[in-house]
Parts: sequence; structure tokens; C-alpha cells
Amino acid sequence: MKFINFNVKECLLIAGGAAIGICYGRVADNLPPSSKVIDVLKSNGISTTRIFNADGPTLQSFSGTGISLMIGVPNEILPSLASGTALFSLQWLETNILSHLPSFQVRYIAVGNEVFSIDPFYSPYVVPAMINLYHALQVLNLTDSIKLSSPQAASVLSISYPPSAGTFNPYLQSVMVPLLRFLDSTKSPFMINVYPYISYLNSFESVTLDYALFRSGDNEIQDGGLTYGNLFDASVDAVVYAMEREGFAGIPLVVTETGWPTSGGLAASKENALAYNGNVVRRVLSDVGTPKIPGRGVEVYLFDLFDENGKGGEEYEKHFGIFGLDGMKLYDLAFN
Ligand SMILES: *[C@@H]1O[C@H](CO)[C@@H](O)[C@H](O)[C@H]1NC(C)=O
Repeated sequence: MKFINFNVKECLLIAGGAAIGICYGRVADNLPPSSKVIDVLKSNGISTTRIFNADGPTLQSFSGTGISLMIGVPNEILPSLASGTALFSLQWLETNILSHLPSFQVRYIAVGNEVFSIDPFYSPYVVPAMINLYHALQVLNLTDSIKLSSPQAASVLSISYPPSAGTFNPYLQSVMVPLLRFLDSTKSPFMINVYPYISYLNSFESVTLDYALFRSGDNEIQDGGLTYGNLFDASVDAVVYAMEREGFAGIPLVVTETGWPTSGGLAASKENALAYNGNVVRRVLSDVGTPKIPGRGVEVYLFDLFDENGKGGEEYEKHFGIFGLDGMKLYDLAFN
């Protein structure tokens, strides 16, 4: 960490009216060609997209579209980025990302996905890979415009209820604290995937469907001086409190995945997906923030553009898509 330049200019990560992004998951064998996907994004006014790996042809098809991107570095590549030289990271960045599209279209590089609690074999490599990539961005003078972070699953919290008790799992301390220190010193956001749907499934006696779908009253839950009317805000604030507990109160948050399935599980339906995603979009666009950080827009990436028929696990995991394969919305969600 001591090699990092601590004087990076303050970067305004979130301007008024935070943007709604969408995840373009591609674990499927039936997706439309990316040219068609870009038409769908543009015709719906979606200006920010998350792509989970640096697939060359996909990145090329976004070049010049004006759509800004969060690009994922797959977990399997982290060991070589972590143990290689900074020059190796520079070459990796140029070959796999910057040769395909102009640097100003790259907003974030998401280094790994859900590593700490879901794929922990790669945990020791996350921050070292981020440091090498940061040095590469320094060489390219891109540290102000491209931010590095590492999306985590909400299960990095061992306590999330009530939100003010939010605490990172103590077993992750040795990797979480260096990550937070890196994000703080490089003015980068903490990235978290948040699924009230799954919380609802896992504890459906204490979490009501109305609370998960933003349909309960504004004070469903009292937490000290704050009141919560929905599980999304409570989940976000639990992370904010957990960071504060580690001594990092100022790190902004990006919700890198959230969504609701249309079929394949309890309460999975187009009506509920519209209620959930519609409420998330309205909150983001109006910059209401959360009870803990009111008025501060939380940037959100909805999951998912299309259903992904290659996803394993529970059946509902295949059915988070907002658009059908013909590019028509499955339900009447407005993005702006
Ligand atoms: C580095 O980038 C900044 C914009 O982010 C620019 O103002 C500055 O002139 C650049 N420096 C060099 C040496 O190119």
C-alpha cells in the first residue's frame, strides 16, 4: 500500500441523480448479438452497463456507443495479476480492455466478483491484483477516471440486523481491512451485491414480502433514531455501518447487483420484479439515499439484462432478466 500515491484528486463519484446501470450477464447460449443488445440499451436510455469479463468482441461492440462500462476481471485471473509485475498488469489492461475501447468509456474495473465469501480461494490475490492494476493506471494517467474495486456478496456481513449492528465477518478481517484501506486511499467505492429476494427466501418468517418490495410503511423497523421501510435500504446501511465500524466512514457505496426474478421460485413474478426494480430505480433517480446517508445517491446496477439459461443453482437464478430475447421489456420498467 505504501506505493500508492495518496494525493489522487478527489473524484466526484456520484453527481446529482445517480445513474441506473444494468448488468449484462452472458452465461447463456441464446442471447441476441451484442449489436442488438446495444440497441436495447440505447432505446431504453441506459447509459451504464456492467460486463462480467473482458471479452474482446463484446467490448469492441460497445466502443463509440457512449455507454460507460464497469468491466469485470474474472476471479481466475487474479493470481497472475497479483504475482506478476506491474508491467504484466499494464500489458493485461492494454491488451484486454484498452485496445478494444476508449479509456473514457471505462468507469470501473471490478477486480474479481464475490471473492471473499463465495470464492475465498482467491481472497489473498484481490488487493495485490488491485495494487498492480492501480500502478498500471498510474502509468497511463487514468487513476482519476477509472476506479478499481471488488464487488462482494452481502454475506461478507456476519451481522446485518438491525442495520446499525452491521459487522463484517471477523474471519474476513485480514482481507477486508486492506481492501477498505485501498478503496479509501484511492477514492474508490465499496461494491456490494444486494438481493432482498434471497433474504426474503432465506428468512421469510421475519422478512415480509411487503418489506422486501418497498410496500410496507416507512417505519417497519426502528433502529436507534432511524426507521426503515424496506429491506434494500436496510441492507445498504448495514454495509455502511460495517465500514464505519472498521474506521472507514467516508467510502461511498455502489450496489453492483440487485434484482428480482420473474419465475422459478417463491414470489418470483413479473409483478413483483416490476415492484422491486421500479422502486429501486425511483429511489436512485431521486437521490433519496438511505436513512443513514440521506440525500446521497447510491449508484445501482440492476441484475439482469436477460435471463441466463446457463446459470446453475436454484431455478430462479436463471430468471432475473428484465428484457426478453427479442429485446422487448418483460414488464413495464422505466429507467429514467
Ligand atoms: C493526466 O490526466 C489529467 C486528467 O485526468 C490531465 O488533466 C493531465 O493533464 C494528465 N497529465 C498528463 C501528464 O498527461
